[in-house]
Amino acid sequence: MKNTNPTSTEAWKALADHYKTAKNFNLKEAFQNNPDRAKELTIHEGGFYVDLSKNLILKETQHKLVALANECDLTEAIESYFNGEKINATENRAVLHTALRTDQTHSKVGENAKAAIASKEKMFAFVDAVNNGQITAANGKKFDTVVNIGIGGSDLGPVMIYEAMQAYKNELTLHFISNVEGDHVEEVLKKIHPETTLFVIVSKSFGTQETLTNSTTIRNWFTNKVNAAAVAKHFIAVSSNVQRAVDFGIDQKNIFPMFDWVGGRFSLWSTVGMSVALGIGSKNFQGLLDGAQEMDTHFKNTSFDKNIPVQLALLTIWYNNFFEAQSEAVIPYTQYLHRFPAYLQQAIMESNGKSADRNGNRVNYETGNIVWGEPGTNSQHAFFQLLHQGTKLIPAHFIAFAKAKYNHPDHHNKLMANFFAQTEALMNGKTKKEAKEDLTNSGKSSTEIEKLVPFKVFEGNKPTTTILIDELTPQSLGKLVAMYEHKIFVEGVIWNIYSYDQWGVELGKVLADAILNDIEHSKYDGHDSSTKALLQKFYSLNN
Ligand code: F6P
Repeated sequence: MKNTNPTSTEAWKALADHYKTAKNFNLKEAFQNNPDRAKELTIHEGGFYVDLSKNLILKETQHKLVALANECDLTEAIESYFNGEKINATENRAVLHTALRTDQTHSKVGENAKAAIASKEKMFAFVDAVNNGQITAANGKKFDTVVNIGIGGSDLGPVMIYEAMQAYKNELTLHFISNVEGDHVEEVLKKIHPETTLFVIVSKSFGTQETLTNSTTIRNWFTNKVNAAAVAKHFIAVSSNVQRAVDFGIDQKNIFPMFDWVGGRFSLWSTVGMSVALGIGSKNFQGLLDGAQEMDTHFKNTSFDKNIPVQLALLTIWYNNFFEAQSEAVIPYTQYLHRFPAYLQQAIMESNGKSADRNGNRVNYETGNIVWGEPGTNSQHAFFQLLHQGTKLIPAHFIAFAKAKYNHPDHHNKLMANFFAQTEALMNGKTKKEAKEDLTNSGKSSTEIEKLVPFKVFEGNKPTTTILIDELTPQSLGKLVAMYEHKIFVEGVIWNIYSYDQWGVELGKVLADAILNDIEHSKYDGHDSSTKALLQKFYSLNN
């Protein structure tokens, strides 16, 4: 990959110039001036209808953004990504989660793809055997519960998928324990029967404090409730550090390896998806992989002007670097995706929250977008006030599925009416004249109208992207997740940063160890006065 400072490109200069007029762009007028605007700025791709037209762009903006992608050698970068070159240079690793969903073993990543297929087959064989009762609990009964113990990428992807796939789940109930919080562990243990529970310890490194602490506590609890001999049948592990998992006491045949070329936050497609695969069955898990592969193919083979991840990434760059937007909202209009924004927070912010460029220099432009969100319509009754009338520019993705899973047309029509109404309202706003008319119609006096009108005006012109998908299925969910993965990649390429390391998070792990040692030895010195007082307060309340 070339290490180009994007701000030094001709395309960036052209965009900066274009921004001088584009910053006054008016969405409502743009629709009035061009009846084909929606058609021109919508991408259809196998069940995905991605409408970019309510964004602060013209076709000309799109061309200039694509020119930026070209000048930053995006085509070459995509090849390096899919061909398994070590684009995660600071960790000297390839970034090949795409190999986990390929069926092309003859491709350039042949050996890796073969390894991925073999590990998937081992996982599926285990999943099928648990689901059909061939592999049972120590007492011979069928497992009825799975507890996933893992954190970060070893939790957020699996829990998000499991919640999204509730309509596809089998009789197994899943619980997720991630935080190193004894209280949470207790609350989960209260709900489960150890004799019929399978514990899946997921840790790429098998060295993460949270996961090891939780696993040790749970193993001790299990041993007390059942017996030590049953641990071998009830605890399995997913890790790239097989030896550490063996040392922890996991039976070697119950360790499902993962690969160093799969980053934690992109690992849900690998054996990290074990708990999900158990909960939805191997056929549905394969559906997720197939959907992701469809998006991989679209991303690799489609020209940038019609390429969904590329277009979404370029919009982020347009808002982040030219309009100086600080954050983006993702609003899924389905409760099934209630963990999707949290999942995206790790995927996006752990990847692109970087300030050193690929040459090792401090960047002289903004990188990394803050992402947040909650399902609609709940969020309409919460933070939408700020979207509509606040002072900040917050581009938002609105995601919905045209068909509901169950037959409640009254509900679904209302849900979707809100979905469509919000993007329209964010764009149109409400003028002073319209606000006055509303107040007059509601019978207010002219004095009251004058007083209230400033508070009833909506500026409008708030940009949104509508992602309307035919139906929530394993395939469409896999495709949606892969869409965001590739969006992250494109942004990282253009921002000239390394998207696949996470040194900031690694630092946090070490810092906690030092303070833990002080807590355990009641030592307060060597800290600033604030931290020292907090430690003393903590100690006095616990002793
Ligand atoms: O949160 C930081 C991180 O390094 C993530 O990248 C990873 O997903 C998580 O920790 C968990 O790490 P592990 O799977 O090795 O326990």
